[in-house]
Amino acid sequence: MGTLSRSAGGRKPNETMRLIVTTFVGVVFGFLIGVSFPTLSLTKLNLSSSLLPNVDLTYNEDQKSDISRQTILNAWSSTRSNNSSTKAQSSNGTGRIWVPSNPRGAERLPPGILAAESDFYLRRLWGKPSEDLTIKPRYLVTFTVGLNQKKNIDAAVKKFSENFTILLFHYDGQTTEWDEFEWSERAIHVSVRKQTKWWYAKRFLHPDIVAPYDYIFIWDEDLGVEHFNAEEYIKLVRKHGLEISQPGLEPNKGLTWQMTKRRGDREVHKQTVEKPGWCTDPHLPPCAAFVEIMAPVFSRSAWRCVWHMIQNDLVHGWGLDFALRKCVEPAHEKIGVVDSQWIVHQTVPSLGSQGEPQNGKAPWQGVRERCRKEWTMFQMRVANAENAYFKAIGVDPSNSTTH
Ligand SMILES: *[C@@H]1O[C@H](CO)[C@@H](O)[C@H](O)[C@H]1NC(C)=O
Ligand SMILES: *[C@@H]1O[C@H](CO)[C@@H](O)[C@H](O)[C@H]1NC(C)=O
Ligand SMILES: *[C@@H]1O[C@H](CO)[C@@H](O)[C@H](O)[C@H]1NC(C)=O
Ligand SMILES: *[C@@H]1O[C@H](CO)[C@@H](O)[C@H](O)[C@H]1NC(C)=O
Ligand SMILES: *[C@@H]1O[C@H](CO)[C@@H](O)[C@H](O)[C@H]1NC(C)=O
Repeated sequence: MGTLSRSAGGRKPNETMRLIVTTFVGVVFGFLIGVSFPTLSLTKLNLSSSLLPNVDLTYNEDQKSDISRQTILNAWSSTRSNNSSTKAQSSNGTGRIWVPSNPRGAERLPPGILAAESDFYLRRLWGKPSEDLTIKPRYLVTFTVGLNQKKNIDAAVKKFSENFTILLFHYDGQTTEWDEFEWSERAIHVSVRKQTKWWYAKRFLHPDIVAPYDYIFIWDEDLGVEHFNAEEYIKLVRKHGLEISQPGLEPNKGLTWQMTKRRGDREVHKQTVEKPGWCTDPHLPPCAAFVEIMAPVFSRSAWRCVWHMIQNDLVHGWGLDFALRKCVEPAHEKIGVVDSQWIVHQTVPSLGSQGEPQNGKAPWQGVRERCRKEWTMFQMRVANAENAYFKAIGVDPSNSTTH
């Protein structure tokens, strides 16, 4: 939370803070109550309400008085005295709570009060919490964006219905500039300068945070979506049982892989034929069990695994595409490309040009070199981790089927 508010609060506090505050004021407010419960006073409330010119936080107006400390304490103690288990807890040590099956660190809480998962649903500051949401989006789409791609992102976002939560990761620090689009108001904006898609994903898309979403799109900003409809895409992904997928790529110019090339004659494909010698096994990348990292779509359960595989320091995600298959079984059936909803990869220089000149090399060169290095490091880490695992359980790694 600290990172969020600090980064978004950057240069134009009033404007920039608005969205962030709208999103997080519930959390902050709850936190204030929690932390300062015994000393809660209207002064504190006024403090936070000064950030919210349109919202009146003095909801106890009808009492024509402050929330008095006494009133709260009275309510507090009457709940306590009504509750026999609370009584037992204070008078009898054996009544203490310890639930080993709770999430780690939360064993002292009764399971009934745990909120182990979260979401990106925006809530109101008033009314009944149960009536806050008119719609609960079932899918999440994230774009990692710079303002230069404004038009492209606007076009892309419009391909996603109201069933999608829209989350923008801003790598150039510009957020309020997006407010000209009506959808920007309901989007979540996270602004941290010069970070990559996988850096944001690791930090802000923890599986427990995105738990309500059936599918998660983690997309680049330079995709042409003229021939893409997100709802139709989801239908096909469900129909064909794809846990990890991407839309087919229009072969406008040099494509890296045959696998992700769009085929005109079918809804979905799960394998392909590459140049001779490229595929040792037709069920393995790059001939199957493989999508690229520019526009992947993950099911909830696949993402729960993939998130854990993302390394905190390897920010470009190179090599991740070849390893995705480790997260689904059988990978050659559950990873595939959706041909009938397809995109164009426009390959505009974006984050690649956000490097810094070093040793006489252009910024993009430094970035590209790091991408390659990360690829090697990632391959090594995966191989070492697998070897260590099999060694530990006494199996010859060369006999394992995971290669
Ligand atoms: C406590 O219990 C009494 C009687 O059982 C009830 O009238 C009162 O509303 C309860 N208080 C709370 C805070 O639940
Ligand atoms: C605590 O007291 C409230 C009000 O009497 C009651 O509704 C609730 O079930 C009690 N909780 C437990 C754990 O007994
Ligand atoms: C404490 O709780 C245990 C188990 O619930 C019970 O057997 C025991 O009598 C209680 N002791 C007191 C002092 O209440
Ligand atoms: C949103 O999802 C609901 C439930 O799946 C569906 O009925 C509705 O058509 C979807 N909205 C759009 C615009 O497709
Ligand atoms: C590996 O497989 C070979 C042949 O299938 C077998 O002879 C050998 O014992 C296996 N090694 C281990 C450590 O399981």
